[in-house]
Formats: sequence, C-alpha cells, structure tokens
Amino acid sequence: MKILKNPYYGIYFGDKFYKKLKKKKKSIKIILVDSLTKKYCLHYFLYKTDFFKKKKIIKISSGEKKKNIETCQIIWKKLIKMNADRNSLFLNLGGGVITDMGAFACSVFKRGINFINIPTTLLSMIDASIGGKTGINFFSLKNEIGLFNFPKQIIIDNNLLKTLSFPEMKSGLSEIIKYGLISDINLWNFLKKSIFFKKKIKYDNNIIYQSIKIKNSIIDKDPIEKGLRKILNFGHTIGHAIESYFIFNLKKKISHGHSIAIGMICESWISYKMNMIKKKEFKEIYNVLSKIYSKIEIYNKDIEKIIYFIKHDKKNENKKIKFSLIKKLGYCLSNIEVDNELIKNSIKNSKIINLI
Ligand SMILES: NC(=O)c1ccc[n+]([C@@H]2O[C@H](COP(=O)([O-])OP(=O)(O)OC[C@H]3O[C@@H](n4cnc5c(N)ncnc54)[C@H](O)[C@@H]3O)[C@@H](O)[C@H]2O)c1
Ligand SMILES: [Zn+2]
Repeated sequence: MKILKNPYYGIYFGDKFYKKLKKKKKSIKIILVDSLTKKYCLHYFLYKTDFFKKKKIIKISSGEKKKNIETCQIIWKKLIKMNADRNSLFLNLGGGVITDMGAFACSVFKRGINFINIPTTLLSMIDASIGGKTGINFFSLKNEIGLFNFPKQIIIDNNLLKTLSFPEMKSGLSEIIKYGLISDINLWNFLKKSIFFKKKIKYDNNIIYQSIKIKNSIIDKDPIEKGLRKILNFGHTIGHAIESYFIFNLKKKISHGHSIAIGMICESWISYKMNMIKKKEFKEIYNVLSKIYSKIEIYNKDIEKIIYFIKHDKKNENKKIKFSLIKKLGYCLSNIEVDNELIKNSIKNSKIINLI
C-alpha cells in the first residue's frame, strides 16, 4: 500500500485501506454522499467495507449551488437526530463539494468531530480533499466561510473514477496542469506533449500520486497559507470570480476546473504583460489550455461584476488585489499586486472569453 504522510494525516493509495476502516471501533459510522455519489459510489464503498455495521447515510443534492449554509443545517440536524458524537466516524464520499462542505460541517459540529475524506472525482482526489481547507459559499462568494482543519485520513481509490463524466475528468486535469505550471516543469512538458499529440492521459495511480505529492509537499511547508501555499491559487483569483459569476449571476453551470483553466490563461497574460514570462511562454500555455477547454461567453456590461468578485478574493490585503503569478514555466510567485486595468484587459484580451 502506497502512503504519503504529513504531520496531520496519512494519504492511502489503493483499495486496501477499506479493510482497516471496517475495523475502527466507533459509535456510528456516518457517510455523507450527494445524489450522484450515492448512485455511483456508495454501493462499491459499502461492498469494500463488507457493508459495515452501525452505518448511517446522509444524502444531499449534488452541485456547487448546494455548497451553502442551508445544506450544512440539514447535515447538522441529521447528525443531532443520529446522536452523533465525537466518537462517531464521519466519511465524506464525494467530490470537492462534499469534501469541502462535509469537512466544514464536521469541524464546527460539537466543536469538531473527526472526518475522513474519500474523494470520488479526479479534482477532489488530487486537490480538494487534500490540505485542510474546509468551507462553503456564502453571499454569492466562493468559500467565503470556512476554516483550516485536517481530515484524519484520505483514501485515494481511482476505481471510483470509472463512472465520472468526461467533462468532470477535464475539470480535474486543469488542477494537474496548474501543478505543472507552478512547480514541476517535467509534469508540464509531459502534459503539453500528451495534449498536443492527442495522447490519452492515463489517470492511473502514477499521475494522481505525483499530483498529490506536489500539493502535499507545499502544504507540509505552509499548512495554513502564510506564504508558499498561496502559489496553489494560481489561476484562482480570476478563475473563482468567473466561477462565481456563472453560478450566482448567470445561474449557469461551469466546472471548477474549466473556470480555473480560463483563470490560468488570463493570469498568464498578466505575467507576460508584467514581464514575468516571455510571449512565447504565454502562447505555449494558451495553446495547451485552449485545446482542452472551450470558450465561454461573458456580457461586456458584467466585467465590473467579475471585478467585484476579484476584490473579495481571500489573498487580498488592505484592499489591494494580490495574485499568484508564474515567473517561468514550473515556478510561481505570490503576493503580487496587480492593477485593476490590467486585470480587466486580461479578461478583454483573452481569446478564450467571448465578450458579448
Ligand atoms: N479545499 C480545497 O483545497 C479545494 C481545492 C480545489 C477545489 N475545491 C472545491 O471543490 C469543488 C469542486 O470539486 P468537484 O469538481 O469534485 O465538484 P463536485 O463535488 O460538485 O463533483 C462534480 C460532479 O461529479 C459528481 N460525481 C462525484 N463523484 C462521482 C463519480 N465517481 N461518478 C459520477 N459522478 C460523480 C458530483 O455529484 C457532481 O455532480 C469546488 O467547490 C471547489 O471550490 C476545494
Ligand atoms: Zn481549484
């Protein structure tokens, strides 16, 4: 069994760990699922744990729109009815919405009950379930309410990906590309070649392990985002704003990874305009990302709405908008102040956004 450890938790690769889970002596075992992970993942998980006893299921609707305080209230009420206590075992079986929100709900229930993440999307395996950021959306702002709190364990079982749709796989790929761009030139070159030559990327334990290793090593050095960890936000300042604008203003679905891919194009353009990377490097990034992620449409009159979301980004300090930007392929710097006009121009000039 492959294991990655840091001071807070262990990340277990493969399906061998399920048996250990079964043996845990707990008052009750609560499994949080959404409508799709109930359909596609729950039976497999129960089978792997020999349908363990004293289990209770909490099911919520799937989707980013449900990552809110109302859904948390549903979870808390159910936990109270189940007599959940600090000796209960809470398992988040789902994508990033389940792992972010389930972890948040657990972290504040009875001042904190333990939880284990079992991510079921590529994005949550390589990113959302790792690293202790818990949270929910509030007042149309992404992850506005939350806290750092680490899971007790994380189980990475890529068998769970078999039922995941192609767009959701693409969403996860976006964060793998980000790891390459911010800290691993070899990973970037591998992805670039695969995408250009249309080679199928195999989401085996290798690439998943490599991605998690990158995130884990960054978190190990800076667990609560005092410095280095901010580089993981590359693409997310503009990306999160686009995601919020789509979900809360246009009421349209866009995946997290798709928004971040667009954010990475805009933010790489800013790096280029600030003389941090060469035009050739920007073009390389644009060509790779625009091969996989489709164009989106934004109303010209709504650019200010996107800027409003950017102004509420958590990395900002003293009302100054701060970005994490790449300095060269495979290397990223954080805390870079960027001018409002340059941000607007990065959206206007990015060929991946159609202003209508
Ligand atoms: N905490 C962090 O560090 C961090 C990092 C990155 C992203 N995030 C958060 O993660 C969320 C996005 O995660 P996501 O993309 O996993 O979203 P998600 O949880 O909404 O999952 C995407 C869709 O796939 C479905 N699904 C999940 N597993 C499935 C499976 N095995 N088979 C079929 N369908 C399945 C879900 O029901 C959902 O409809 C965002 O809210 C984002 O803010 C958090
Ligand atoms: Zn992300």
